[in-house]
Amino acid sequence: MQSKSSLSDSPTIKERWPEGAIVYHIYPRSLQDSNGDGIGDLQGIISRLDYIKSLGVNAVWLSPFYPSPMADFGYDVAEFCDVDPIFGTLDDFKQLLQEAGKRDIKVMIDLVPNHTSDEHPWFIESAKSRDNKYADWYIWQDPKFEEGSSVPQPPNNWIDMFGGESAWQWVPARQQYYLHTFDVRQPDLNWTNPEVREAIKDVMRFWLDLGVDGFRVDAVYFMGKDPMFDDDLDNPYYEEGRDDRSNALRRENSQGWPMVYGYVREMSEVFKEDKYKDKELFMVVETYPDRHNSVASYMAFYVSMDPKLVAPFNFGGITVPWEAHEWRKFLKTFHTATDHYSPHCVASYAFGNHDLPRLIDRIGHEAAARSAAVLLLTLPGMAFIYYGEEIGMHNVDIPPEFVHDPQAKRNPHQPAGRDPVRTPMQWSTEKYGGFTTGDTTWLPMAADFRDNNVAVQEKD
Ligand code: NOJ
Repeated sequence: MQSKSSLSDSPTIKERWPEGAIVYHIYPRSLQDSNGDGIGDLQGIISRLDYIKSLGVNAVWLSPFYPSPMADFGYDVAEFCDVDPIFGTLDDFKQLLQEAGKRDIKVMIDLVPNHTSDEHPWFIESAKSRDNKYADWYIWQDPKFEEGSSVPQPPNNWIDMFGGESAWQWVPARQQYYLHTFDVRQPDLNWTNPEVREAIKDVMRFWLDLGVDGFRVDAVYFMGKDPMFDDDLDNPYYEEGRDDRSNALRRENSQGWPMVYGYVREMSEVFKEDKYKDKELFMVVETYPDRHNSVASYMAFYVSMDPKLVAPFNFGGITVPWEAHEWRKFLKTFHTATDHYSPHCVASYAFGNHDLPRLIDRIGHEAAARSAAVLLLTLPGMAFIYYGEEIGMHNVDIPPEFVHDPQAKRNPHQPAGRDPVRTPMQWSTEKYGGFTTGDTTWLPMAADFRDNNVAVQEKD
């Protein structure tokens, strides 16, 4: 692989921190508990910053820690500019920023612009009537009626991502349906409304003023929808009884309309405002590529916005089969495309995250996971490491009574869901692996934590 600078057409580009950064992805519930309640928190994270630094990490990304009823474990945000008491306080977060700063670690936080919790004050107000200040902040549609019937039906056939049921929920007070791409408790914001766009930009400003260095932006592909709300088409590859029902339709109308690029660009332009323009701020957006041409899907993001400010996650580490020739082809296509387009494009590789099976289980065995780590850490651009990946944490079997994940609860074909990859970090051979001093952990510890943990590996 040629280095990025040797392919660049501009030898004078300043090296910015995202180019070559190693980003440690923290799932706050699961890294370290500091108060014995069995759930990780911000003080816990602060206490582990020295370890994180010792890995050679330059930045951290924190999954959501905002007030939330936890229907989707924080991706259902009930207040964008605060900290859920489970995780601590805003002062704890300020302390985290300071402590990370002392160690020269950048802090990226999760921004969830596509939806809120149904307990967010905007939604509570919006659901009350059709003529309040927030009436048009969510996606409301009138019902359809079958001939001769007065029973309201959803406006179209769109289905949600968590179980594949109708993505519409009826609200009697408005005599209308609201759209929820994910859980029924996660209503979609209406991005066609400029007030919504400004409100999310204010959220960004709030955290930038505190000193964060950037954002990981959740589920952006869903922000652009067909304004006529036409039905989605059947997915010809879907097989009932075998596949997750949320894949029954091709989401050509319920997601991915090109307005997405305009919305993300508009968000990123906050970074150019006077207050922020001299800082090196960056955002990485979550978008799963079109399965037939993933590089083209990534390029659509680079060319639609300033690549110095935004990159799409490169999920090649998840989608490309673990075969050398497949990887060679993918890398060659990706880096030829980005380098030809602009020397400023930052690749942003992730081989695992809180939604996907652990790398070592997906890829099959330890030796392959080691090679994947070498690949990840030598590719140009940003390398995202999901907590525990560095010690080869496995998927953990979750007994049915411990299942938390809404995706699992509503999906008979995914009985374990995403909980197996969210189990507590394995720090030591102590009780509960050093994760908590309490009497319980929110998800079970891996059975092998006494053999596989940070303390053991540090001596290896
Ligand atoms: C993607 C996040 O990574 C996932 O955890 C979450 O459930 C959905 N977006 C909805 O916010």
